[in-house]
Amino acid sequence: MKNKFLFGVSSAAFQIEGDDGTQGRGRSVWDEFCDREDTIFEGQNARVACNHYNLYKQDVKLIGELGADAYRFSVSWSRLIPEGRGEINPLGASFYDKLIDEMLNCGVEPCMTLYHWDLPEALSKRGGFKNPDFPLWFEEYADKLMRLYGDRVKMFIPFNEPINAIHTSYFAGIFAPGERINKRQTFDAIHNMLLANARAAEVIHSADSDNIVSVSMSTFEEYPAFDTKKCYEAAKKLFFEKPDRTDSVDLYLDPMFLGKYPDWMQKFCPDFVDKTAKDMSFISGKTDYVGYNNYSGHPIGEDGLEITPEGERVLSAMGAPVDHNSIYYNVRFLTERYKKPVIITENGLCADDAVSQDGFVHDKERADYITKSVAMVDKLLSEGIDLRGYFVWSMTDNFEWLHGYSKRFGLIYIDYDTQKRIKKDSYITYKKIIDKRKPKV
Ligand code: GCO
Repeated sequence: MKNKFLFGVSSAAFQIEGDDGTQGRGRSVWDEFCDREDTIFEGQNARVACNHYNLYKQDVKLIGELGADAYRFSVSWSRLIPEGRGEINPLGASFYDKLIDEMLNCGVEPCMTLYHWDLPEALSKRGGFKNPDFPLWFEEYADKLMRLYGDRVKMFIPFNEPINAIHTSYFAGIFAPGERINKRQTFDAIHNMLLANARAAEVIHSADSDNIVSVSMSTFEEYPAFDTKKCYEAAKKLFFEKPDRTDSVDLYLDPMFLGKYPDWMQKFCPDFVDKTAKDMSFISGKTDYVGYNNYSGHPIGEDGLEITPEGERVLSAMGAPVDHNSIYYNVRFLTERYKKPVIITENGLCADDAVSQDGFVHDKERADYITKSVAMVDKLLSEGIDLRGYFVWSMTDNFEWLHGYSKRFGLIYIDYDTQKRIKKDSYITYKKIIDKRKPKV
């Protein structure tokens, strides 16, 4: 697998699996969040979702038919360990066992995300990321995963979108558990996440030194509006640095890859920088790839401010500008700063899909979107950028967090009344793209 470029698809446990309450799974913060009033669109929840827990064979078969090299899935921590620590749920363990075997049977490489936001409720009650014991809990969890699946899984993503896992969930209060701690407490929670990432990476690498650890990072996707050096530098600076904010990309990635908090932290929170300095050599140097999630793009002028492009911008069904410049420039930025291989761990389009009279889903915008993204991937590769993979979000339509089932990203359409799967046109397009590159045997 090493050095091979991977075409893949991504998903996350909470968004697809479903849980009827009989399978020994513990509750996660997102179950609790869905039960609150006025959190999720029309009061929806993920108790059924795509019923992937029961229909996984069908889903993995579709991934195999797509010709994907890899499937990025996540483990539900509380399905495997209902209380977050201690006893394993045998049904949960056997589910992931079968799921991984099914991938391998279909010629699809498993890429495992350990944490895609569904923190066990039992650990949330003990403070979640705020608790200095969080890194220990996460290490124990990683250790169990390696013992169970380390013989077959070689690629791991401890944290999906750390900014959303910490800033959006604990500071902005938008995602579960919906807390609003202060900035200083948020820095501490970020530090706990970084320690947890390093502990997990250590467990993963000690199981097999060839194992790959990546992060999946969301950003604000700024890129230069004009082709000048000044503009390039302005966009790049803004992409990484949002001084004194808890959603600044450098706050999360610099410690992981450069072994230090950004310089602006020294100005705004010197005691935090001093207090954490002793951990930096442990936190850094353990993450092999920079995984990058891309959905939109924002052009930045020479003055470092976003500019409004001429003419109307095409928006996705989530209201995000549809843009392919960011994927190109952001991968370059990440490569230049961290000097590590990059992998695009998510890229996709939200569209208002519907089943046509002919029974198919003609999602031309998504098919075009993926084609254009892959063209950017090719451009980066032709320029010698060390890009190792491209994963489409998402395999199927699924539970889109606050938006419930109202927003669709899948290559495969889900009829939520019948759980029928329908390959969309974008699936066919992506399959053709992948097929074209397969070595002819
Ligand atoms: C993300 C998430 C996905 C979302 C996707 C579309 O990492 O943000 O991984 O869970 O569904 O981004 O919003």
